[in-house]
Amino acid sequence: MQTVSSGLEGVCVADSHISLVDGQAGRLILRGVHLRDLGDKSFEELAQILWEVPVENLGEARVRVTPWIREALPLAGELAPIEWLRFALDRLPDSKNSADWVAALGVALALRRNPKAQPDPEADHVSDIARMAGLQWPDGLRRYWVCVAEHGMNASTFTARVVASTRAGQRAALSAALGALQGPLHGGAPGPVLDMLDELQQATDPAAWFADKLARGERLMGFGHRIYRVRDPRADVLREACQKVSEHLPELAERLRFAEKMERLATATLAAHKPGRVLQTNVEYYTALLLEAIGFEREEFTAVFACGRVLGWLAHIFEQEREGRLIRPEVRYVGPMPTED
Ligand code: ACO
Repeated sequence: MQTVSSGLEGVCVADSHISLVDGQAGRLILRGVHLRDLGDKSFEELAQILWEVPVENLGEARVRVTPWIREALPLAGELAPIEWLRFALDRLPDSKNSADWVAALGVALALRRNPKAQPDPEADHVSDIARMAGLQWPDGLRRYWVCVAEHGMNASTFTARVVASTRAGQRAALSAALGALQGPLHGGAPGPVLDMLDELQQATDPAAWFADKLARGERLMGFGHRIYRVRDPRADVLREACQKVSEHLPELAERLRFAEKMERLATATLAAHKPGRVLQTNVEYYTALLLEAIGFEREEFTAVFACGRVLGWLAHIFEQEREGRLIRPEVRYVGPMPTED
């Protein structure tokens, strides 16, 4: 009898040289380096580390893809930001240059906010996208994208690898990954985290608010993780990024203090609610505060995540292309059988 692992929990699907997500120790290691030691890297330097192949000039790629994306812009308003990224990717001519896909996602994000913006090929990727998108604190965006660029065999990365394994090409693999990312159990959580904090700010008794929510069988957004049995190390990296940005933004400093207080209350309530399961803060909690402070709208958060995670998706797509084997698991049939053979 075949054994089934619900949600593929504990199933190892590949050997990878890209990252180690150490759920017991709460460590994230990218190509042999702790995430916390990569905090000063530029987006381009991180791409070089993750891809281990020379990265084509992202500035030239932004210039190359912009006219294609601008042409598609009239339809952007009809789509959610993450759907717009997928659509923009589909409008590009086919390319053998992976930098084009990275550039396209950033440019699509920026042009949706500011349709007349022009890329500057001399600028670094993050500064240019932040300027085009009319955002403040580009260093906050750089810290965010470096933090979330890669994270093992998460649902969207696995999706990208499955599609890459069919040899459908990089665009198809990235498009599928965007779809997987948008769900609230994966990359769609930070918007709801802010909704939750807003409600808590109005609540007379936040502890009772948390308890009621759990009693109704709902989940607290920004908490829990499939792999981490301790606090997600990215939560600390992003809380520090919030602290840096809050040096310029007093309103963020105040929101951060409130969020830290609510985090302590939430983890204590979750511990009492589910004593057998460690439910700690995940990456999405402080993502929400940081992206709001930088100037993004809630509905854009998942698309912003995608524009950073694309580096990790491509690293895995390259590895899968080298591996070359079709990913094709089995399913245990538990349905009826014909009465006669
Ligand atoms: N709030 C309340 N209860 C929770 C939470 C939570 N945030 N997370 C898990 N639980 C409970 C589940 O209801 C389940 O209870 P049950 O056994 O009584 O059914 C138990 O803990 C185990 O949960 P699983 O669903 O098995 O955990 P899994 O590993 O499948 O899910 C996930 C991980 C999806 C992140 C989950 O913790 C969750 O839904 N969190 C809230 C959404 C969120 O923050 N998502 C962002 C994740 S980070 C990222 O992908 C970038």
